[in-house]
Amino acid sequence: MHQIKLTTPAGTTDIEVGEFLSSGLGRLDPLPVLLVDENVLGHYNHLFSQYPCIAVPSGEPHKTLQTVENIYRELVRLEVDRTSLLVGIGGGLATDVAGFVASTFLREIRFGFISSTLLGQVDASIGGKNGVNLDGYKNMIGTIRQPSFVWCDLSLLATLERREYISGIAEVIKYGAIRDVNFLDYLQRHMTGLLNLDGEILREVVATCAAIKVEVVQEDEKESGLRRILNFGHTIGHAIERDQKVLHGEAISIGMVMAARISNSLGLLPGSGVDLLTGLLKSAGLPVEISLDPERIFDNIRKDKKKAGETIQFVLVDGLGKAIVKPIPLAEIKQILHDLC
Ligand SMILES: NC(=O)c1ccc[n+]([C@@H]2O[C@H](COP(=O)([O-])OP(=O)(O)OC[C@H]3O[C@@H](n4cnc5c(N)ncnc54)[C@H](O)[C@@H]3O)[C@@H](O)[C@H]2O)c1
Ligand SMILES: [Zn+2]
Repeated sequence: MHQIKLTTPAGTTDIEVGEFLSSGLGRLDPLPVLLVDENVLGHYNHLFSQYPCIAVPSGEPHKTLQTVENIYRELVRLEVDRTSLLVGIGGGLATDVAGFVASTFLREIRFGFISSTLLGQVDASIGGKNGVNLDGYKNMIGTIRQPSFVWCDLSLLATLERREYISGIAEVIKYGAIRDVNFLDYLQRHMTGLLNLDGEILREVVATCAAIKVEVVQEDEKESGLRRILNFGHTIGHAIERDQKVLHGEAISIGMVMAARISNSLGLLPGSGVDLLTGLLKSAGLPVEISLDPERIFDNIRKDKKKAGETIQFVLVDGLGKAIVKPIPLAEIKQILHDLC
């Protein structure tokens, strides 16, 4: 089992990568109250029967304050108090909601996560950002509070829909692109195993990504500097996600290819680097291009909350494995989009 510790001013988290659900919950003290993604609950109901359990509705439209309020009422009904332990079980949506509920109910009660999607295990469950959407705007309301523990349960991935799993691989590849060129090489050699959910490869991949995320968050919990590199592929990716019916990882895949091409045009990344990244994403079954209206994408980027004035803090790669953040004027972004699309 891989163990990683995340320590920040907001708290310490023990992250473990392995298989826990059937044995781990029984070890917890006090008896936990579970907040479980409704689909996970459907698949693994038998494992939760002896615990007080609240279903978290699945789907982004349910990631709202209304859902949070419903859960608060259930917690009152279950007589949850400040000595209780809440455990959020599911993908990024359920853990974001559970973390927000736990960090606000009775002003904060102790909480942990069992992450059940690849994206959750390598990204969403780690770092302490919790929250919900407001009027369709993503993650507008939230807290930064670290869970006591995160268990990345590899056995749960077996029931995850194939397309969701592959979407998570985009974030996996992102970590290599921004921080670790040797990991990109590992992924090239082991992509088939990763696609087949090979236990040993999965363990290595999830542990490596979790460790990179921990390293970055530890240096910059509140996203004032280094944490921004985690947004590689996300400026254009989010704009695509808002415009088209694609999953997050699929949009990020295309966003990373575009960011790599921009890095290339600025003389930071050789063409061979663009090709390597594109090839790796393709080998995972991720999309690397899409027909886009550059004006619509540009409009979406302008609305992005991370923009400061007339420039965008754009994440580029200065060679594979090394991300840099460069302010790029909006006018230049517009031109680049017209050139790329
Ligand atoms: N807090 C953060 O730092 C952070 C980072 C990235 C993303 N996020 C958030 O994470 C969310 C996306 O997370 P996600 O990609 O894990 O999606 P998700 O949590 O919506 O799960 C995707 C789908 O898979 C189902 N599911 C989950 N686990 C399953 C399993 N083991 N077996 C079968 N079905 C399963 C869910 O019911 C859902 O239908 C978004 O809301 C996003 O805002 C948060
Ligand atoms: Zn992402």
